[in-house]
Amino acid sequence: MADYLGDAQKRVTTLELVKMKREGRKIVMITAYDALFGALVDQAGVDVVLVGDSVAPVIAGEETTLAATVEQMIYHGRIVRRGVKHALLVVDLPFLSYQVSIPDAIANAGRIMKETGAAAVKLEGGAVWAPTIRALVNAGIPVMGHLGFTPQSVHQLGGFRIQGKHADGASRLVEDARALEEAGAFSMVLELMPGSAGAAVTKAVSIPTIGIGAGPECDGQVLVLHDMLGLNEGFTPKFLKRYGELGQAARAAVSRFGDEVRAGSYPGPDHTHQG
Ligand code: KIV
Repeated sequence: MADYLGDAQKRVTTLELVKMKREGRKIVMITAYDALFGALVDQAGVDVVLVGDSVAPVIAGEETTLAATVEQMIYHGRIVRRGVKHALLVVDLPFLSYQVSIPDAIANAGRIMKETGAAAVKLEGGAVWAPTIRALVNAGIPVMGHLGFTPQSVHQLGGFRIQGKHADGASRLVEDARALEEAGAFSMVLELMPGSAGAAVTKAVSIPTIGIGAGPECDGQVLVLHDMLGLNEGFTPKFLKRYGELGQAARAAVSRFGDEVRAGSYPGPDHTHQG
C-alpha cells in the first residue's frame, strides 16, 4: 500500500497541469498506443501521455479516427498504462461513445477509467458538450476538451481544414473554450487553427491549452508520436516537425537483415550458440 501511494504521488496530476499554466511552464504531451512506446515517452519526461483515437489511422490503418471503438481504447489504454510510471495518462473517448446520451458517456468513460487505469478522458467539441462534461466531472471523471479541427467531425468539417480563420470563427472558439472551462474541463487540446486564434483562446481561459497546429502561444504542445518520429511518412502538414526518421531507419535495418540472410553472413559466429 505504501509503495502504491508513494508511486501515485509522483505522477503528474490534472491540478499540476493547471499550476504549470499559472507558473508559465510549458506542458509536453505525446500520444502512445502500446507499453513499449508508453515507457519510452515516459522515460523521455513528457508530462502527459495521450492514448488517442488516432490509434485507428496510425496503428490500425483506418482512414479516420471514426473507426475507433471503446474496446480498442480500453485495450490500448491498458497496455500503455503498463509502461507509463510518471506522466498523466489520458484516453480518448471514441466516436459515439459520449454523443448518444449523458448516461452512455458516463458508462463508457467510467469503463475506460476503470479498465485502463487512466487519470482522465478527452472528448471533442465545444459548448454543446458542456452538459456532458459537467456530468462526467460530477461523476469524478476528469475531462480534457478538444477544440478547433476535431477529427471525429472530419466529414462534417469537409476534411482536414484549419478552423477559426476568420474573426467570427475565432471568437466562437473563445466562447467554446470558456464553456469547457465553466463545465469543469481541466485542460483542452487546440488543433489546427491560426496562431492568433490559439493565442486568443489561451488568454481567455485559466485552464491550460495544448496545441497541435495552433501556434506557440498555447500552454503546451502535443504531437502524434508516429508522425514526429517519421514513422508515418506520408503525413506532412505544415505544423509537423519531425524529430526522427525512424521509418527510413526501420526500412534500412530490415533490408540489411534481408541482405545478410540471403548472403549467408547472418548469423555469423558472434550470433551462434556454441556447445
Ligand atoms: O487522437 C489523437 O491523437 C489526438 C491528438 C491529435 C491530440 O487527439
